[in-house]
Amino acid sequence: MPKNIAIIGAQFGDEGKGKIIDFLAEQADVVARFNGGNNAGHTIIVGEEETILHLIPSGILHKGTINIIGNGVVVDPKVLQEEIDNLKSKNVKVTPDNLIISENAHTILDKHIQKDKEKNKHLGTTARGIGPTYEDKIARSGIRVGDYAKDDSKLKPFVKNTTLMINNLIDKNKKVLFEGAQGTLLDIDHGTYPYVTSSNTISGGICTGLGVGPKKVGNVIGIVKAYITRVGSGPLPTELKDEIGKQIQDTGKEVGATTGRARRCGWFDALIGKYAVMVNGLDAVVLTKLDVLSGLEEIKICVGYKYKDKIIKDFTTDIEVLENCEPVYEELSGWSEDISKVKNFNELPQNAKKYIKRIEELLEVPICIVSVGPERNQTLTLKKEFLF
Ligand code: GDP
Ligand code: IMO
Ligand code: MG
Repeated sequence: MPKNIAIIGAQFGDEGKGKIIDFLAEQADVVARFNGGNNAGHTIIVGEEETILHLIPSGILHKGTINIIGNGVVVDPKVLQEEIDNLKSKNVKVTPDNLIISENAHTILDKHIQKDKEKNKHLGTTARGIGPTYEDKIARSGIRVGDYAKDDSKLKPFVKNTTLMINNLIDKNKKVLFEGAQGTLLDIDHGTYPYVTSSNTISGGICTGLGVGPKKVGNVIGIVKAYITRVGSGPLPTELKDEIGKQIQDTGKEVGATTGRARRCGWFDALIGKYAVMVNGLDAVVLTKLDVLSGLEEIKICVGYKYKDKIIKDFTTDIEVLENCEPVYEELSGWSEDISKVKNFNELPQNAKKYIKRIEELLEVPICIVSVGPERNQTLTLKKEFLF
């Protein structure tokens, strides 16, 4: 059993990280975010109640869990206050005991949002000021939350030295869940540059974004949807611009949790999956939204890119290749049954099991959880040994 677990988006974001973190947080002592800002939208559904978190870690709905916003995150103080107020209106406790913000996180100011809106339209950003704030951080002209909070009495009680705190908690054998935002292909270094976000979204970001050494990270688990989606600009080789794409978008309710934009949908891309396994050092993956594929006669998995008469088998960040390649597909038979009420792997239709097994083979890592709906109880645990 691992002491700590990292949850990382293994595609283009919106893989269902919020749901899985909330599910695992039941057993965790600490949930810590290490990157991004309120460009993220992490959805948690408990019964009838939907909560979308942008900045506050997805452990907040569990009593007794400590939620940390690390130094690698960029914080918009107004958005944070709104999120705290919204949670309080739902009777969720948010106090300096269960929410702690790093003094070294950087502050998103109005000028950053303005610049994002004016300069980054072509990238299809969330216009939340994320890029310009990281620009100022790297240029050494940003304002850290610790300095900003000196003049902000609301924010001040939440601000602490989270590096010391998280390391002390780990040393005391507390179980930490590291919460990634965005996804591997949006990583500033390893994603589809320039169509990326401005932080390191991969597991390596945990070390810099929280001040935790690599040996303390524990199991690294990637979240993949049973298909793929992307919101904003940039290449998506398996994008479906036809009726099937529309069907997946409708059934999967693929609308951005932050900006409300329609998410582009496509078939599962095993090259991207394998790449995510490599750059994150994934120990296992969680397959989400399998229920959305019910009713499709045939399901495709991309196993290569055909580019200029050559078949490419390894993912590349070369935009020219990604935009002009033709996906090479393997075809599998679908299933018609509604699987959203299935409680364990054995109850799944034969073809759903085959689909899961094939993804496991192609990615060469075990699938530890299969998610068949947005709620906590629509979660099938296949391999307990990777979890708390
Ligand atoms: P995140 O950014 O990775 O946390 O993902 P989002 O919350 O932005 O988007 C995932 C969406 O899919 C949310 O609306 C979730 O409620 C929903 N969801 C998560 N897992 C499942 C699942 O297994 N099946 C279905 N149908 N919906 C899911
Ligand atoms: P979660 O954590 C999906 C995308 C934007 C845009 C690009 C750059 O919910 O998975 P930015 O505002 O970060 O400069 O925009 O990245 N993007 C996301 N897409 N999920 C997210 O977060 C995203 N955060 C940013 O749409 O294409
Ligand atoms: Mg999201």
